[in-house]
Amino acid sequence: MKYLVTGAAGFIGSHLCTELLKQGNQVWGLDDLSSGKLENIEHLKGNPNFEFVISCISNEAILQELIKKVDVIYHLAAIVGVKRYVEDPVKVIDVNLCYTSRLLELAWKHDKKVVLASTSEVYGKSDKVPFKEEDNRIYGSSTIDRWCYAISKTADEHLCFGYAKKGMPVVILRFFNAYGPRTNSWAYGGVVTRFINQALKGEPLTVHGNGTQTRCFTYIDDIIKGTIEAGRVREAEGKIFNLGNRNEISILDLANKILEISGKNGSIVFQCYEEFYGSSYEDIPRRSPDITAAEKILGYCPTISLEDGLKKTIEWYSKKL
Ligand SMILES: NC(=O)c1ccc[n+]([C@@H]2O[C@H](COP(=O)([O-])OP(=O)(O)OC[C@H]3O[C@@H](n4cnc5c(N)ncnc54)[C@H](O)[C@@H]3O)[C@@H](O)[C@H]2O)c1
Repeated sequence: MKYLVTGAAGFIGSHLCTELLKQGNQVWGLDDLSSGKLENIEHLKGNPNFEFVISCISNEAILQELIKKVDVIYHLAAIVGVKRYVEDPVKVIDVNLCYTSRLLELAWKHDKKVVLASTSEVYGKSDKVPFKEEDNRIYGSSTIDRWCYAISKTADEHLCFGYAKKGMPVVILRFFNAYGPRTNSWAYGGVVTRFINQALKGEPLTVHGNGTQTRCFTYIDDIIKGTIEAGRVREAEGKIFNLGNRNEISILDLANKILEISGKNGSIVFQCYEEFYGSSYEDIPRRSPDITAAEKILGYCPTISLEDGLKKTIEWYSKKL
């Protein structure tokens, strides 16, 4: 099969390209390197089945040429990370919504399947955990910048369903806090990276807020398995899937676990959100996915425990120091 991966030099994109190539596919990667890094795909250099193009997804001529070549588009390119949403909401709406809208239109025009990377953020501040795909979404005021990301991805989902009505095969994946080697420190699983780096350097681990907020961290290999199935399974078309892990952990417990696994005796310090994200911030106290739909239709089954995933990630970052 032939695939286009937008955001190929990013965290999830680079792992996805690697696995698609390992399975014998032909892959085109597109990235503007705004947050992605060439070193993330360095190991794919020289692979005859991989071609990498540095470009913004807004360059329609390039995008269209790539879309024409492939069977399936994995659309991962996006502005990611809370700090980045609160700094530049205009950029978030441009990339995550306006350019994405054009990409979907081109995919429809050329009759291609799209797998869209959406997010657990679309549930907003709903307290009905675990989140099910058809649950209501609850957002804060538009004066609070952090909601621009959830709104942009929600609008993308509506666009996908709109094109699905016209006959385009689309699958929407809502990722929940993926982590592993190459995670960006500002992104979803970024707290794992930040804690690991702080622990390895012997610095105090900085917990934002009081640390009781929970997340379900999912090791990247599990996320990639589900993502690849979403591109393959016909029954998945026209549907949304949560891709995550049921094991919920508080951020404070995560910090302690990382100290324990890394064998470091570091301390933990608390930092208020405003200090880090500015006053325009609202945190989500609990975030946990219902993954029944992905289990049934994609055969998704996260197998890597947090302990094993953290060990692998710590080992990878230790080599980088
Ligand atoms: N990592 C997670 O846990 C998580 C959770 C929920 C949703 N997601 C979604 O998954 C996707 C991938 O996330 P990630 O964690 O790998 O983030 P990432 O920042 O590592 O990857 C995004 C990539 O998109 C590229 N990009 C950004 N704007 C672009 C543009 N205009 N043109 C071309 N490339 C552009 C960046 O350079 C980067 O390489 C995103 O759509 C994100 O919203 C990720």
